[in-house]
Amino acid sequence: MSFQIMGTGKAHPQFSLTNDQLSTIVDTNDEWITSRSGIKTRFIATTETGLELTATASNQALANAGIAAADLDLIICATLQGDNVTPSLACMVQQEIGAHCPAFDLNAACTGFIYALDVAAAYLDSGRADKVLVVACEMMSKHLDWNHRSTCVLFGDGAGAVVLQKGDGLLARVLTAQSDTEQALLIPGFNNINPFSQLPHRPNVLSMSGRKVFKFAVGAMVKDVKKVLAQAGLTPAQVKMVIPHQANIRIIQSAAKLLGFTEEQTAIGIQHYGNTSSASIPLLLDDLWRQGKIQRGDIIVLSAFGGGFTTGACIIKL
Ligand SMILES: CC(C)(COP(=O)(O)OP(=O)(O)OC[C@H]1O[C@@H](n2cnc3c(N)ncnc32)[C@H](O)[C@@H]1OP(=O)(O)O)[C@@H](O)C(=O)NCCC(=O)NCCS
Repeated sequence: MSFQIMGTGKAHPQFSLTNDQLSTIVDTNDEWITSRSGIKTRFIATTETGLELTATASNQALANAGIAAADLDLIICATLQGDNVTPSLACMVQQEIGAHCPAFDLNAACTGFIYALDVAAAYLDSGRADKVLVVACEMMSKHLDWNHRSTCVLFGDGAGAVVLQKGDGLLARVLTAQSDTEQALLIPGFNNINPFSQLPHRPNVLSMSGRKVFKFAVGAMVKDVKKVLAQAGLTPAQVKMVIPHQANIRIIQSAAKLLGFTEEQTAIGIQHYGNTSSASIPLLLDDLWRQGKIQRGDIIVLSAFGGGFTTGACIIKL
């Protein structure tokens, strides 16, 4: 059973920030950013809210699927944090698009979209839903220290969505979680303003041990994708496209090479979007779908890793 993807959608802010523009804010340059990460530009919110991007991506996916928001049975929004802690982004977008179904946010960091697909599959399999909207939205620009060159150059804002219905398109999946005890990838909760607290104040901006995350990411992607290929009884040659989480072009290329995927099979959009966390896979999925690079009947592999640490991969027949 599980699901079939009925339609896809995406949204990003208007403003595209170049590496050269970044070099006027922090001590960096286009050559360093391009060679270390593959990123040339990223979209950064100026006037847009997370809700606006989420609603635009969701409405596009609904139009592409040919169904009305009122027909949805569930909305799952993958996000590190919506515009508010409460109401959730999922509840806000439910009203914005005119849906009436249950709605909740899910945080599995950059793996959030794959975790959300898995939850959606469970609802569809159990018969508790017929049509599910899974939308991922990340406003990474609000989590960054814009004085910190080793992190602020890497991320961007965006949203991507899919509408799912019952079907037999989910061929295999794997999810993992392991505690990042050394806090190699961290965004602390809130500035501590409780007057009784004796805990230290921690600014709530992203910090990362890039090399540790890099090493973890390549190993995790290779392991997860090998597992789902084995579960589905498929070889890399039978896969039309692998759509990896877009964190660093060198992570993607190393993992793809170790797995035996060709350049043509490996989807890359990091040059335009930067790392948009859980939104990176559905953003690219929508681009590839609308460009006709993937079509109904094709087999695709999704693979992600992120804070937690979380990882996940799945194989979908479109
Ligand atoms: C972050 C990352 C691009 C850094 O690349 P790296 O090759 O490991 O580079 P390092 O962190 O070792 O830094 C090398 C040097 O560049 C400098 N540097 C860091 N950011 C810079 C920037 N934006 N511009 C210029 N120089 C920079 C560092 O200060 C360091 O200088 P030093 O050698 O004099 O100390 C890379 O490690 C990475 O992508 N890791 C994975 C991150 C990831 O996937 N995060 C998301 C998880 S979902």
